[in-house]
Amino acid sequence: MTSRETEIGRDAHDITTGEPATAGCSASAGRRGLLQGIGMAGAALTAGLLPGAPAARAAPRPAKPTHGDIDLLRFVAWAELIESDLWQQYAELGGLATGSPNPYQAALDRLDGDSGQYITSNTTDELSHAAFLNAYLASIGAEPVDLDRFRTLPSSQASGAQQNGRLTNLMQLSVDSSWYTRYRSPSSPDFGATYPQALPQLAAGQYPAIPRNDADFEPADHIQAIANTAAFHFASIEQGGTSLYASFAQHASSAEALEILLGIGGDEVAHFVEWVDFAGNAVQKPVAPLTDPTNGLHFPNFVNGGGQLLQPNLIFPIPCSFISENLPLCAVIRPISPHDFTAVGVVDYLTSTGLFIGQSTDFTIFAMQLATAADRARR
Ligand SMILES: [Fe+2]
Ligand SMILES: [Fe+2]
Repeated sequence: MTSRETEIGRDAHDITTGEPATAGCSASAGRRGLLQGIGMAGAALTAGLLPGAPAARAAPRPAKPTHGDIDLLRFVAWAELIESDLWQQYAELGGLATGSPNPYQAALDRLDGDSGQYITSNTTDELSHAAFLNAYLASIGAEPVDLDRFRTLPSSQASGAQQNGRLTNLMQLSVDSSWYTRYRSPSSPDFGATYPQALPQLAAGQYPAIPRNDADFEPADHIQAIANTAAFHFASIEQGGTSLYASFAQHASSAEALEILLGIGGDEVAHFVEWVDFAGNAVQKPVAPLTDPTNGLHFPNFVNGGGQLLQPNLIFPIPCSFISENLPLCAVIRPISPHDFTAVGVVDYLTSTGLFIGQSTDFTIFAMQLATAADRARR
């Protein structure tokens, strides 16, 4: 899940004209080799399907969570506490307003007039995910995840922000936007493809995604750039959750753990798609082109400016390589391979974006302990 630059899907087809697409991804040698191996072993596999041959059967799922399931659920509980913390900060400053909106809320409203409700709803969902997972863990005698000792980072000083210790930093972010091109490409990271940043400047620097104080409320193009930064961060977080649950589900042993991972994971997908649309509004008229006069952060107008990989209204996943390059392209979550997508990778990814700037070494050690345990879980 690390953000990468340079290589992209090589044969980006024109989804708007319906031209036949070619599978344009670069496949990893390991994956390709595995698939070729399966092809060579096809006769043996097929033999198992012939009349009279013993049918291959998957082991029945246990009804209740295994130790591996608990490790998966403890890691997603950690992730949900992180999501809850960052979304709470967004909601305090950019969520539903009573009275007239502050300039940050007004800037978010320029991206979508329902921004306040969406931000508040997303926050409510994350809090429910975290509370449910920890209560579920306790209900089966497993240890819930408690991050309260790490709530040490400063709050924004802008009017509206509560003054609490935080788990996450939203004031110096290097926002990854490779998800934007990844989901518009017919290639797949599960086959080794990598993607350019839609906004390289946003990924390379450190920018606020919430106003740090009331001085950040103006000038108008500055607070709009902060809102635009948030828009891309919203989607980067929710695409991570989307892939996390989809890949973890494949390691779940019990039916109940699978139900939890699919159920919550589906909500992450719902969030992601809305924020894809939302972020697209930050890179087209009337908001873009826009340049923050305080730091030069630039949001181009992507309409008619970058082809399919930058087309703002391509909000649904473009069909891409899936399972085998010999099969037709398929519109799916990506990455989703349980072999390549890891919990350790999630912690590394979030850390690389600056989300944990100021956190202690103990915070990282605890996150990596949970991640390493989850990565050992196998069905
Ligand atoms: Fe969540
Ligand atoms: Fe989420």
